Amino acid sequence: MYVRALSGVNSLDEIQITGGRALEGSVIVQGSKNAALPMMAASLLHRGVSVLRGCPRITDVYCMEEILKKLGAVSRWEGKDLYLDCTRADGTEICGDSTGRMRSSVILLGAMLGRSGRGTVGYPGGCVIGKRPVDIHVFALRCLGVSVQEKENGITARRLRSTGGTVVFPKKSVGATEQAVLSSVLSDGETVLKNCAREPEIVWLCRYLRGMGACITGEGSSCIRIQGVGTLNGGDLRVPADRIVAGTYLCAAAATRGRIIIENPPEGELDAFLDLYRKIGGQYEGKSGKLIADGRNVRFPVTFLETEAYPGFPTDLQSPVMAVLATIPGESHIRENIFEDRFRLAGELNKMGAAVRVSGKDAWIRGTETLQGCPVTACELRGGAALVLAALAARGDTVIRGYSYIRRGYEHICSDLAGLGAVIREINRNSFI
Ligand code: EPZ
Repeated sequence: MYVRALSGVNSLDEIQITGGRALEGSVIVQGSKNAALPMMAASLLHRGVSVLRGCPRITDVYCMEEILKKLGAVSRWEGKDLYLDCTRADGTEICGDSTGRMRSSVILLGAMLGRSGRGTVGYPGGCVIGKRPVDIHVFALRCLGVSVQEKENGITARRLRSTGGTVVFPKKSVGATEQAVLSSVLSDGETVLKNCAREPEIVWLCRYLRGMGACITGEGSSCIRIQGVGTLNGGDLRVPADRIVAGTYLCAAAATRGRIIIENPPEGELDAFLDLYRKIGGQYEGKSGKLIADGRNVRFPVTFLETEAYPGFPTDLQSPVMAVLATIPGESHIRENIFEDRFRLAGELNKMGAAVRVSGKDAWIRGTETLQGCPVTACELRGGAALVLAALAARGDTVIRGYSYIRRGYEHICSDLAGLGAVIREINRNSFI
């Protein structure tokens, strides 16, 4: 059951859940947030119209859309297809008010450099899961012959040459890899990127760019090679299914011991997660392009799980998995290697009756089959989604404050879960009845 209740005037927006029901049914997964955002940035590289088909209507996409419009782009939606006309998108400055609302804004610098040879961006924002510096972005651009000044309120860059170059990343970074690709596809030389991040979102960005006429090989491996070209045509690609949303819904089935079918699973992008799913007792099978997952036998704690760069276990599913482990009696151990502050969920799970102990990179979770619903607060995207999962498993009612964090990345989490049998109410108190 899904009720969207609007009431009163209040700055809070909430989700209310009555837990204790095993989820059953099938669900279609939205387009990938982390694939759509760099594809939107890449659209700047063509002085004309590009389209992202099946683009998720989420806060971060709307934020990126607004920034592109401030640069001079014209956008329009046709259902779920986002058309970006970048004919006149010649702006080269993005203020901190805009960039501070999301992490991805920083890669617009690479796109502006590719288009106009210069750009200024305010420092990016994003979820409070760690310091999230941009030093590797700056390092990569300097290796590519870009003059970069870091100032108090942002970064100013100017391309000194357009002959490409070589970058050996000191550490794998999804955003910095995307940054280097975006700033190199329009040039008159070869660019070699080594020790690249291998996330699927980088593969999808390169597919989108190749469809525009870019010459890129090696994406998905640690070495990407780019032969610069003079111009690019309009992009036109369907945004892939969101692997993190798919994993979140599989966690919902595990937490409630239910059985769900994902109609459009992201092929080959969830292997590390599915290994974990089996370890806790979950079962799954691929059938005619769908993924059938059975969480009825989920009961085994995890001796040790650590997050790693792709194809290792994804940091973005660490919080949803912690919520599942909070429903499993026994002690599980998680190590978060990617971000320094991604255990904020622990305190909220403890309010519901779990016993999560955090020390540095490590968290030990003593789960219970009798989590109790209560008021909890989300403070970032994936931790907020994890609270939804815990609430679905808990007895009684849970109110989750901070729904706006969850809406940054989940397009229809309430209606999707309601379609699987969850009793969930979206309380958006920003409107009058
Ligand atoms: C992307 O963030 C994703 N965001 C994140 O998803 C994801 O968790 C992350 O990649 C890792 O997979 C988007 O794609 C919009 P990184 P990004 O650069 O690019 C450090 C979500 O929930 N680092 O790969 O910012 C950094 O602090 C979000 O959807 C530097 O030290 O991640 C982190 O410890 C959360 N200097 C590590 O590298 C830099 O210049 C990996 O970060 C850049 C990063």
